[in-house]
Amino acid sequence: MPNLFFLLLLSLHLSLSSLILVQSSTLPSDISVLQAFKSSIKPTSIPSYSCLASWNFTSDPCSSPHITHFTCGLTCSTTSAAAARITQLTLDPAAYSGTLSPLISKLTQLTILDLSDNNFFGPIPSSLSSLPNLQIFILRSNSFSGSVPPSISNLKSLQSLDFSGNSLSGSLPNTLNSLTSLRRLDISYNKITGSIPKLPLNLLELALKANSLSGSLNKFSFDGLTQLEVVELSENSISGTLQSWFFLLPSLQQVDLANNNLTLVEIWKPINPNTDLIAVDLSFNAIGSYLSTNFSAHPLLSSLSMRYNRLRGPIPWEFSKKQSLKRLFLDGNYLNGTPPKGFFSGVTSLSGSLGDNCLQSCPISSQLCSKSQKPTSICRRVYGGKPMS
Ligand SMILES: *[C@@H]1O[C@H](CO)[C@@H](O)[C@H](O)[C@H]1NC(C)=O
Ligand SMILES: *[C@@H]1O[C@H](CO)[C@@H](O)[C@H](O)[C@H]1NC(C)=O
Ligand SMILES: *[C@@H]1O[C@H](CO)[C@@H](O)[C@H](O)[C@H]1NC(C)=O
Repeated sequence: MPNLFFLLLLSLHLSLSSLILVQSSTLPSDISVLQAFKSSIKPTSIPSYSCLASWNFTSDPCSSPHITHFTCGLTCSTTSAAAARITQLTLDPAAYSGTLSPLISKLTQLTILDLSDNNFFGPIPSSLSSLPNLQIFILRSNSFSGSVPPSISNLKSLQSLDFSGNSLSGSLPNTLNSLTSLRRLDISYNKITGSIPKLPLNLLELALKANSLSGSLNKFSFDGLTQLEVVELSENSISGTLQSWFFLLPSLQQVDLANNNLTLVEIWKPINPNTDLIAVDLSFNAIGSYLSTNFSAHPLLSSLSMRYNRLRGPIPWEFSKKQSLKRLFLDGNYLNGTPPKGFFSGVTSLSGSLGDNCLQSCPISSQLCSKSQKPTSICRRVYGGKPMS
């Protein structure tokens, strides 16, 4: 006969322990990593109110309750496995200053690593490639330097990578396209040089603004990126021709290539009339061609800026018939002829500027023409001294 009293005791013990020890204790090697992580941060940069100040290793990091110790900055696995694992490191912005311990690669259950808005410096450890579950990796607004380690290409689960606002240099790893889960890549505001390598196929958003990228945009880099919606490459030194394949990327919505060194832009009529292109900024380049009517063939195009280039010739009348167009900035070019009358009929609510060109009869009463046109002498020189028709 079973000992009823013993069974009662056992069940009482089990229910009590599940009440008190809500989580099991942390895997010892994960605790060592957290200790190494904290000790590579200068103690003087850890304010008393911060998450890291509460990391007191006299308690277990994953055991509840977190009243005074381990109050924030980390998350543990909630499965009832033998030992809890660290699944997220999401530090508070407290101006922590230090290096990132390479031992972090031993937190193999990590899904989120977010150290944004602090003062971490030194290299991004290449050992981080051994985090098979890492989905979100954010080092935004720190002082990391050195190159983007090629080993990050092994992070097969990575969906979002944000290294923006650091001092990273060198070129991007040419194995980047191995990141097959990556949706969002932001390495803006660094010192990245060279050209753009072959990009991951499932990318939605590419942001490499304010770096020192050079060379022309290659079809090879963007081939097969059927989901790419946002391209933010302004403030680089991208040069040459933006070829017709670019605006044929089927999901493209927003393009910012302002402040580069493009000399020519090809845009075709969209193959699929349901193109999503909404906003294009090509301002402050060296684009010396005619303004292509084909921009107006994109049904959703709402904002186009090509200000401060070297555009010549007339503004195609199709732009004035375009209902979707809300912002049109073409100032600072050599556009000539008479601007389409439709711009000034008061039917559309178009904002923008046509000033600082060689246009004739741009009505001063329109806000579009409030900036004056170039002096006739400059326009004569550009158009080979021939009087303007
Ligand atoms: C850690 O916690 C223990 C016990 O609560 C306390 O005595 C000790 O001073 C704490 N250490 C730090 C560095 O805060
Ligand atoms: C653009 O190209 C010209 C001529 O190649 C060069 O002199 C200039 O420095 C370049 N500008 C930028 C921003 O790269
Ligand atoms: C407009 O697009 C067509 C293809 O759809 C192309 O043949 C033509 O050259 C383009 N025109 C301009 C001015 O880019």
